[in-house]
Amino acid sequence: MQLSTTFALLAAAVPYALAQAQVWGQCGGIGFTGPTTCVAGSVCTEQNSYYSQCLPSSAAPPPPPSSAPPAPTTTASSPAPSGSGLNSLAKAAGKLYFGTATDNGELSDTAYTAILDNNKEFGQLSPANSMKWDATEPTRGTFTFSGGDQIANLAKANGQLLRGHNCVWYNQLPSWVANGQFTAADLTTVIQNHCSTLVSHYKGQVYSWDVVNEPFNDDGTWRQDVFFNTLNTDYVAIALKAARAADPNAKLYINDYNIEQTGAKATAMLNLVKQLLADGVPLDGVGFQCHFIVGAVPSSFQTVLEQFTALGLEVAITELDIRTTTPASQSALAQQQKDYQTVVQACMNVKGCVGITIWDFTDKYSWVPSTFSGQGAACPWDQNLVKKPAYNGIVAALSA
Ligand code: G3I
Repeated sequence: MQLSTTFALLAAAVPYALAQAQVWGQCGGIGFTGPTTCVAGSVCTEQNSYYSQCLPSSAAPPPPPSSAPPAPTTTASSPAPSGSGLNSLAKAAGKLYFGTATDNGELSDTAYTAILDNNKEFGQLSPANSMKWDATEPTRGTFTFSGGDQIANLAKANGQLLRGHNCVWYNQLPSWVANGQFTAADLTTVIQNHCSTLVSHYKGQVYSWDVVNEPFNDDGTWRQDVFFNTLNTDYVAIALKAARAADPNAKLYINDYNIEQTGAKATAMLNLVKQLLADGVPLDGVGFQCHFIVGAVPSSFQTVLEQFTALGLEVAITELDIRTTTPASQSALAQQQKDYQTVVQACMNVKGCVGITIWDFTDKYSWVPSTFSGQGAACPWDQNLVKKPAYNGIVAALSA
């Protein structure tokens, strides 16, 4: 090798050799060519063969015993002790589960499923898409359950609870439903047949069903969809009664977003629920989706949860994620940690809040970036399946 070539190679290598990875940045792993040392106050910590990360010194695991440091004190920002996990902590605190959404396309990712299948981490699964109407009854009277079955079977194999999602929703409807010119009687039969067949198919396998999803606009008025436009509010009771008859042991929920703060939409949901209970319609719970924004978690969330449990219903956090502008800054990730802690703490503080589901656990498969341009980083695990500070926020609330 000529001297000039050697110099050029060395010169090219110098920036990497001298640069240090920032806190939470990557510092190693198979195929990684960037800096392998961390800025002061952080420690390069192997997460898996493909990813090492600079963790703040206070959060990094202790070095091997040979260096004999004093044992680190556990703080809110320390990782959970090994052998624990979000579901284990939630159950130890009296909740039924800590769970996650998942989707069929993700199940061939073995690094992903290694985390998903750990029932210490996740004690409950929600199918993000495969039990929806377009997936299960694409043409009238023809049902396909293969996608939903895959997730139901996975939950069973893993010893995880299952939330059914969903029977009746304005979105992801096949066109024969969305554009059907139904009479009220015809649509009643369509809803009864769909809910009854779907819920019967999973009878005995589902802890709870989102029977009706997102019935309200943000101003508390009813969403103008094929169901409301044809049957007025009656479709809600029709669906709930069909679901109860199909699986009497499944908890039946209405699920929505932007009902997590006091205001018109939460009031509309409260009024609907009161009316249904007064009418003797079967209903067990209300799901709070909790698709939040970093720094904007509603302060009245616990109050709203209590307004619903005061009616004798259970409540659950069903689709939690907390998005931010991407790429996420360190301060946004720190705020996100606090926000996750705040949200989970609200559920912890309310006895009738039975469990928490995150809407997938990793940014790798989050729905957020495709819906909100320039936003994402909403989940507790990052794109590389590495835990973010948000994870420690959840741990702190579950352990409090
Ligand atoms: O299946 C098709 C695939 O064939 C096609 O190639 C691809 C191209 O875009 O699209 C695929 O469908 C996508 C589907 O997810 C399955 O991946 C749809 O485009 C996409 O819109 C759909 O997004 C889902 C979204 O609901 C639809 O409203 C998300 O994955 C799902 O996480 C999200 O979940 C909802 C809850 O059900 C209700 N609450 C809000 C929550 C977030 O939006």
